[in-house]
Amino acid sequence: MVHLIKLLSRSAQDTIEIGEKLGAGLAPGDAVALTGVLGSGKSVLARGILKALGVTGDIPSPSYIIVASYEARLPANHIDLYRLEGRDEAVGIGIEDYLYSGSVNVIEWAEKIGDLLPPSRVDIAIDVRVKPDERLITIRPADDHIKARLTGLAGQFISMGGQ
Ligand SMILES: Nc1ncnc2c1ncn2[C@@H]1O[C@H](COP(=O)(O)OP(=O)(O)OP(=O)(O)O)[C@@H](O)[C@H]1O
Ligand SMILES: [Mg+2]
Repeated sequence: MVHLIKLLSRSAQDTIEIGEKLGAGLAPGDAVALTGVLGSGKSVLARGILKALGVTGDIPSPSYIIVASYEARLPANHIDLYRLEGRDEAVGIGIEDYLYSGSVNVIEWAEKIGDLLPPSRVDIAIDVRVKPDERLITIRPADDHIKARLTGLAGQFISMGGQ
């Protein structure tokens, strides 16, 4: 089974495509927990994932509204926790209702609510590199169900330069 996938993205378009491949393997109730510094590409990756879930049209960053909900092929929430102080404020806005609603949740700044995240989850760290358009994307399935599902996708990722 796949424990870890590391991919080198060389452009925003690469990152969208990685998101689309990943999104195709998600099921209701899954979460994608995105971490990475400001401007690393969390929203770009989220756009690819949401496209694969059937969201059409613009997918603006939800930094100000915190949660954007979509009724697509699968219902999905795009969540951005940047403006929240931390875990308690997230609980205060009812974050658990979103996380356990059966929708797919794509969460930016997910480290702010580490212990609230569902086990059916993929953790993704985006690291910036010296070259301005390069990102190292590390995908780590959090439990065996997700591992099994991602194992089916691994071949496609490897064809994109994965290790
Ligand atoms: N390989 C790449 N992958 C993703 N984005 C890239 C890449 N190369 C350049 N970029 C650019 O980096 C920026 C990433 O912005 P994005 O809003 O996705 O970051 P973010 O991590 O969501 O930031 P924030 O923490 O503010 O939400 C975009 O302008 C995008 O075009
Ligand atoms: Mg963002």
